[in-house]
Amino acid sequence: MITVSIVGASGYTGRELIKILLKHPQVKIAHLTSETYKGKRISELHKGPAGFIDKRFEKLNIDKVAQDSDLIFLALPHGKSQKPVAEFFKKGKKVIDLSADYRLKDKSLYKRWYGLEHSYPRLLQRAVYGLPEIYKEEIKNSSLVANPGCYPTGVILGVAPLLAHGLGDGNSIIADAKSGVSGAGRRLDSAYYFSECHENLTAYNVGKHRHIPEIEQELSKISKEKITISFTPHLVPMDRGILSTIYLNFEGKVSLDRIWTVYKKYYRKAPFVKILPKATFPEVKNIVETNFCEIGLMVDKRTNRIIIITTIDNLVKGASGQAVQNMNLMFGFKETEGLL
Ligand SMILES: NC(=O)c1ccc[n+]([C@@H]2O[C@H](COP(=O)([O-])OP(=O)(O)OC[C@H]3O[C@@H](n4cnc5c(N)ncnc54)[C@H](OP(=O)(O)O)[C@@H]3O)[C@@H](O)[C@H]2O)c1
Repeated sequence: MITVSIVGASGYTGRELIKILLKHPQVKIAHLTSETYKGKRISELHKGPAGFIDKRFEKLNIDKVAQDSDLIFLALPHGKSQKPVAEFFKKGKKVIDLSADYRLKDKSLYKRWYGLEHSYPRLLQRAVYGLPEIYKEEIKNSSLVANPGCYPTGVILGVAPLLAHGLGDGNSIIADAKSGVSGAGRRLDSAYYFSECHENLTAYNVGKHRHIPEIEQELSKISKEKITISFTPHLVPMDRGILSTIYLNFEGKVSLDRIWTVYKKYYRKAPFVKILPKATFPEVKNIVETNFCEIGLMVDKRTNRIIIITTIDNLVKGASGQAVQNMNLMFGFKETEGLL
């Protein structure tokens, strides 16, 4: 049994963490922090199962949280996690950061895409990118996990087997992804008002979304060459879920049978990745509220392109579920504990 705390528990990923952890047989929750809602009961803010916890939000007290926790989840906006992560780490605590603050290894990339200096570049190097399907062993031995972004999770899982096998041209990747509104968190921005997004479909941050360097960093590592991709996110009028359609060019002969076998083998030890039967494609409704990533494959011989479609729930496999999967690995629990 371990004790965990959530910093930034009033947000959507914080809410999802509470919900999952309440059902986890090996976890007790200590502190749930919020600066805005400190003193309020959790149920006054969070609707649904997260509100079942009989606790109040507390103002963050680093010493108290560290003293009472084996692991701390941070679910804060980027830029706000850097310092508390470093402080908890210094106190010898295990940390899982859901923000982007410890994902990019190159601090100049962080500065370029997030407009911020990284104050802990050495710690950045110690952080393990928390995608268990690729870094399982590293995560098991890590004290600091940088939980991946939601779009990167869907895109990286979608093309990793091809790049690892040198199949297709990694630099031809075009990823077109659609996300539900909860991907933006609880923030108040008019683009996310019901009247703005209901019955609407928009592309945003075209050619400049902050998840681009994260996806490129990881795909470059897998393929052992520098990969540059095109990525366009879209906002769709649903609460949660991401569907990514990814195109990649190939030369010569590639059959769907071969590709499908490569994916099945690559993910044979990945309990949360489902490769769908050949030429069938995932739908968001099948994975919502689960930690699964479903993948559908097609080889388009007419255009010499492989088409990969992936679905995840942005708040589960794209955030809090994946964080719990990482926690399970860090503490030697069954990888699926609390998530099935
Ligand atoms: N939503 C997703 O699908 C998703 C997926 C993957 C990763 N993420 C990442 O996970 C992190 C949390 O996302 P979220 O969707 O849960 O966001 P959210 O709903 O906006 O919640 C953000 C949390 O951070 C706190 N916060 C806000 N502004 C702050 C500030 N200036 N200083 C300190 N704390 C502040 C808020 O708490 P107070 O009550 O204290 O104001 C709230 O608890 C973000 O970095 C996000 O990029 C989100």
